[in-house]
Amino acid sequence: MVDIHTHILPGLDDGAPDLEQALSMARAASAEGIRKIIATPHHANGVYNNPAESVREAVEKLNEELKREGIPVELYPGQEIRVHDDMLDAWAREELLTLADSQYILLEMPSSRIPSKMFEWVHELRLMGLHPIIAHPERNAEVVKNPGRLAELVEAGCYAQVTTHSLLGGFGKKIEEVAWSLCKQGLIHAVSSDAHHLELRGFKMSETYSRISHYIGDSATEYYRQNSSNILDNKPIAIELFSKVNVKWWRKLSNLFH
Ligand SMILES: [Fe+2]
Repeated sequence: MVDIHTHILPGLDDGAPDLEQALSMARAASAEGIRKIIATPHHANGVYNNPAESVREAVEKLNEELKREGIPVELYPGQEIRVHDDMLDAWAREELLTLADSQYILLEMPSSRIPSKMFEWVHELRLMGLHPIIAHPERNAEVVKNPGRLAELVEAGCYAQVTTHSLLGGFGKKIEEVAWSLCKQGLIHAVSSDAHHLELRGFKMSETYSRISHYIGDSATEYYRQNSSNILDNKPIAIELFSKVNVKWWRKLSNLFH
């Protein structure tokens, strides 16, 4: 299994605080069959700044420790980038990382809204050949209120990643409902742990995929697993395998909310 969004690097953000806990997280990931993990520390979110070079160094160090400890997990560099005005310039300054050096870039919106410049930023990133992946849209208040807004972002060229903790009810009933609904509507392209902490917010990828198989079907699980693997390998996301977004339908629904 591949996990594309995690906070496993020690001491960089609100994820693993030290090496010992980072190794415990890696052991837990390995125990549930996760073999490849993209480390995505917060970047430019107002609290944490983890520019490209420091993430690469931390990944290299932790990979060495994993080898030394015999933990069969490999880490790849990434960031969870909070969208911000300076983002495109930061890309030009080579401060930003894509996911595992692919064309996919993980973006975090504020939890309260979709920024007014979001579509402009997405357009620019697409022109640069990048594929934005929206981290946990099910936790964005504007998407919760009107899922059609996420459909508009998908139509603009974004993909979306849902968090295991959301699907398992860890963020409350409403977010759980929205998370499942977005999956069923074909608005989600990847499932990831966004793991921060073993007890409070662990991986639970295996458990989540079992539930997805049960509630939506094995083809959905296969679709999400394949997409995470494709993201890591810089291959196209296999949208044809599962339900395509019915943009016209979402537009109509979206208009009702405007
Ligand atoms: Fe995250």
